[in-house]
Amino acid sequence: MKFPSIFRWPLALALTSGVAVSCAGLLNQSQPGGFTAIGLPAKGGSVAPKAAPAAKVVTFNKDIAPIIYSNCSSCHRAGEVAPFPLLSYDDAKKRAKQIAIVTESHVMPPWKADEGKEKFADAHQLSMDEIAKIRQWTDAGAPEGAKADLPPAPKFAQGWQNGEPDAIFQATEAYNLAAEGDDVYRCYVIPTNYTEDRYVSAMEVRPGNHAVVHHVIAYLDTSGKAREKDAADPGPGYTSFGGIGVTPAGSLGGWAPGLVPRLADAGEGILLPKGADIVLQVHYHKSGKPETDLTKIGVYFAKGPVDKRIRSMMVINPLIRIPAGDANYTTTATRKVRDDITVLSITPHMHLLGKDMQISAALPDGSEKKLVHVNDWDFNWQMIYGLKQPMKLPAGTQVNLTARYDNSTDNPLNPTTPPRTVTWGEQTTDEMCIAFLFYTVDSEHLTKGEVAETMPGGGGGGILGGLSPGLRQMAMKLFDKDGDGKLNEEERQTALAWWRDHGAAIPATPPQ
Ligand code: HEC
Repeated sequence: MKFPSIFRWPLALALTSGVAVSCAGLLNQSQPGGFTAIGLPAKGGSVAPKAAPAAKVVTFNKDIAPIIYSNCSSCHRAGEVAPFPLLSYDDAKKRAKQIAIVTESHVMPPWKADEGKEKFADAHQLSMDEIAKIRQWTDAGAPEGAKADLPPAPKFAQGWQNGEPDAIFQATEAYNLAAEGDDVYRCYVIPTNYTEDRYVSAMEVRPGNHAVVHHVIAYLDTSGKAREKDAADPGPGYTSFGGIGVTPAGSLGGWAPGLVPRLADAGEGILLPKGADIVLQVHYHKSGKPETDLTKIGVYFAKGPVDKRIRSMMVINPLIRIPAGDANYTTTATRKVRDDITVLSITPHMHLLGKDMQISAALPDGSEKKLVHVNDWDFNWQMIYGLKQPMKLPAGTQVNLTARYDNSTDNPLNPTTPPRTVTWGEQTTDEMCIAFLFYTVDSEHLTKGEVAETMPGGGGGGILGGLSPGLRQMAMKLFDKDGDGKLNEEERQTALAWWRDHGAAIPATPPQ
C-alpha cells in the first residue's frame, strides 16, 4: 500500500517507563491542547443541514470567509501541512465543490472523536449551520459578494509559533536521506549541558524538510548510552527503529504536521534533568529523491516557580493478537490510579487496523467518567485530546480502555494482503494498543518541597502496567531474569520480542 505522503501525528512520548513506543502516539507533554487549528464555537442544535431562506444570497466575503479563516487556513497555508492554501476567494472558488463534499462528509476539518468543542481544547469542527452554508454557497455558483463584507485575513506567526525560544537545539550536521526504501528512524544526540534540573513549558519543532519528516520525538537520556550509539554509527546520529535503543529518562514531547505546542499552565512543567542529552528521533518517510534534513527544536522554560511536574502514564495492552480476517477484534487494557490526579490530556494510539478506542475512568464511588471516545480512528490524524476542564480522578480510580481493530480485507488501510495475524510491534504493519494520559499529582507541591513519587506498578509500570495483576505477575516471572522486580533494558527487549511472536498466548504457553 502507498501511504499518504504526509502523516500527521501528535507526538509520542516515551517516558521513564521505557516501552519502546517511538512509533507510538506522541505528544507534547506540555501541550494538553493538541492541535491549534482555531475553531468557531459549535452552534449545536440542528441535526441535518438545513436550507436557508431562498432570498438570502450566501457569499464568500460575508458568509464563507469567516468559516474558512477560522477553521481551515491554519493548516491550508504555505509551509503548513495541507497541500494547498485556503486564504482567498480564488483559493476557495477553485475547490468549492470539493469543499462542500469534504465538510459534509466530516473529512475536513479533521476531527475524530464523538465529542468536540465543549470538552476539548482546539477541536476543529464545523457546526451543521456552517456546513449547510458552504453547500448553499457552492450550489449558488460560489459567488464572491461585496468587497466591504470581507473580514481581514487571519494573521499567522512565521517561524517559531510561540516566539523566539529560550534555547534551540539541533544536530551538528544535516542528514542525507536516500531516495527510496524503508522509513528511517534517525536519533540525533544533543547534549544540553545544564548543571541543574530545569522545567520546560513547551517544546516546538521546526522540521528541516517537510517533504520527508513524518514525525519527531524528543527523548531524554541521562545514561550516556545514546552517545555511545551515536559514536558507533557513521554520520550524524544513529538509526534505531521503534524506540531509541536505550531506556529514556523521559521525553519533552514531539511533533507531527499541523501540531503547534501551547505553553503549559503557570506552575506546571516537564522535568529536564541536569546533564541530560536530548535524543531527537526523526521518523523519515522517503520522497522518491535524495533529500537532506536538519530539524531544530526550540525549548521554552517555565517562567515562574514550578509547583507540579507534568507526568504521563500509559494504559497499554501489549498482548494484542489480531487474527487474520477478523473485522472486529476487541481488546481492553486497564490501569489503577494510585494518587489523586488531574488529567490534562489523552492521546490514543493504534496503527492502521485501529477502528475505535474508548477511554473511561471507573471511580471508587462507582461512578464513571468518559475521557475520550475516538469513534473514527484514523492513523493519519492521531490527535492529542486536551481537556478544556482538566479532569480530577481520585486515587483508586480504574482507567479502562477498549479498542477495536479491523484485520479483514474490507479494511482499505490493511497493509497486508491477504491479512496475517498481527501482534504488537513498532512497524506500521504491526499494531499497538496504548493511551497516554498526561496529568499532575494533586498532592505535589514542589515549591513547598512536597514531591510526589512516580506511581510504581499502578502508574509507571512500563510495558506490564496495563496487565491485570495476575498476568503481570506471570510476565514478571517470565522476563525478570535478575529478579529485581523490574525489567532492565535487556529483559524488556526479550519481553517485547516474545510478545511480538506470541501475542495473547502468553498465559498459556510460557517460553522455555
Ligand atoms: C489540521 C489541519 C487541517 C485543517 C484544520 C483543515 N485541513 Fe483540509 N487538509 C489538510 C490536509 C493535511 C489535507 C491533505 C489530505 C491528505 O493528504 O490526506 C487536506 C485536504 C483537504 C482537501 C482535499 C481533500 C481531498 O480529498 O483531496 C480539501 C477540499 C480540504 N482539505 C478542505 C478543508 C476545509 C474546507 C477546511 C476547513 C473547514 C479544512 N480543510 C481544514 C489539513 C487540514
